[in-house]
Amino acid sequence: MNRAADQQQTNPLREGLSTRAVPQPCSVIIFGATGDLTHRKLIPAFYNLAADGELPPAVVIVGFARREKSDDEFRREMEEATRRFSRQTVRDEIWKTFGQSIFYHQSEFEDQGGYKSLADRLDKIDKEHGTRGNRLFYFAAAPDQFEPILKNLKAAGLNEACEGSWARVIVEKPFGKDLASARELNRIVRNSFAEEQTYRIDHFLGKETAQNILVLRFANAIFEPLWNTRYIDHVQITAAETLGVEGRAGYYEGAGALRDMVQNHLLQLLCLVAMEAPTDLSADSIRDEKVKVVRSLRRLSEKEVATNAVRGQYAQGAINGKPVTGYRAEKNVDQKSMTETFVALRLNIDNWRWWDVPIYMRVGKRLPKSGTEISVHFKKAPLVLFNKESTEHNVLVIRIQPDEGISLRMQAKMPGTSFRIEPVKMDFHYGTSFGKASPEAYERLLLDAMSGDATLFARRDEVEEAWAFIDIIEKAWAAKKDAPALSFYPAGSWGPEEADDLLARDGRAWRRL
Ligand code: BG6
Repeated sequence: MNRAADQQQTNPLREGLSTRAVPQPCSVIIFGATGDLTHRKLIPAFYNLAADGELPPAVVIVGFARREKSDDEFRREMEEATRRFSRQTVRDEIWKTFGQSIFYHQSEFEDQGGYKSLADRLDKIDKEHGTRGNRLFYFAAAPDQFEPILKNLKAAGLNEACEGSWARVIVEKPFGKDLASARELNRIVRNSFAEEQTYRIDHFLGKETAQNILVLRFANAIFEPLWNTRYIDHVQITAAETLGVEGRAGYYEGAGALRDMVQNHLLQLLCLVAMEAPTDLSADSIRDEKVKVVRSLRRLSEKEVATNAVRGQYAQGAINGKPVTGYRAEKNVDQKSMTETFVALRLNIDNWRWWDVPIYMRVGKRLPKSGTEISVHFKKAPLVLFNKESTEHNVLVIRIQPDEGISLRMQAKMPGTSFRIEPVKMDFHYGTSFGKASPEAYERLLLDAMSGDATLFARRDEVEEAWAFIDIIEKAWAAKKDAPALSFYPAGSWGPEEADDLLARDGRAWRRL
């Protein structure tokens, strides 16, 4: 592979984006093209990029899957899915052109011949569509298919690009199910693609407000001096969903909330909140700092897992007044399943900045509201003067979704003749401040991969460190010795009582979303 071609190319003429790499023409080959992710996220994301004029002049999408299908059939399916799941309403005139850049390649993942014919087809596409020999392979298939796909790509010479072109691979989660399997997967990927060709996707990093955390912290001078143990009492991270397992039991039963959400999305958010300022904005400088946070997470002993981790599973209940079944009654779920659909954790980062600042995390399905937010709770002002009766902290809330934005809660005097103090909010909403909707995370991430910018993708060591931390909890739970029991919570509640106790013990409470 030509390394020079894989480096970021900047175009200072792109207004307001002078530091951002430019996405390049390419073919995007999606393995698992008939699956849910392709329908719900990938093709709609490409469509939206096309509609917003963000795609490079030549981008061709090739769906690779087992089922027999013509290009036209595949296009029709993709159009239907896009009309259903797209962020913007599909405009016929845009789809007409965009749809023509979608192709279908039928093959078994294990069939070498299918990759040889793919290579020929891509060469032809390069000639006819100007995709310049650049290839972006997207692994949206089941993880047990990654190995044959990677082997066959290599055998067909598709892991290396011609002079002046690039070949990259985007690997979807789950990236392993523990440290050993993640290492093994990294080894397998490494056999075919170098680290700088590998993009491990964590779609939370593509969310607008997640990206804004670095800007908030490092482009403003007022927060950084306060961002430490001296002024911060504790941090909470919540990722709540009203959705249940949604027909994904096959995967979810073997994963659970800790592997599904904490190992990747929540730890990534924590890294952005807790990292030191990088020396520059290059992908590696940022990722160097992020990985130090995970490395500094205090490793819990088996005993400590019992007191610092809560696991729950939703039972029958109601969401927005509508009755819903319990997890064990969901399709393809074992009736005695011990899989957790809720996790609450109390963590510590053992470094100077975060010494003695607890980090509380909770994530759950079938909670009363959907929302992801990080709240930074500052220490109280000295209890003299006005604050004698007040128990309020200043709280900075970073809303990842929905209603992306940031708010700061502070104390103010209520108008009137008495001296009553009440909390008020300074609030920034993306929607109203910038007057435009945020793109979907996948849109940003696809463009970044087409640009060779890996900043918002997880590096090998980040993934492995995160698993090393998660493994301790998983092992303690599996051993069941000192582990907490699996607690049940009615669907539509904020998780088991034990999650509240986790904070109550420290004299704190979860923020209401
Ligand atoms: C996925 C998890 O990675 O993230 C799902 O596998 C979860 O279980 C989803 O529902 C949440 O993502 P978002 O963007 O819908 O909040």
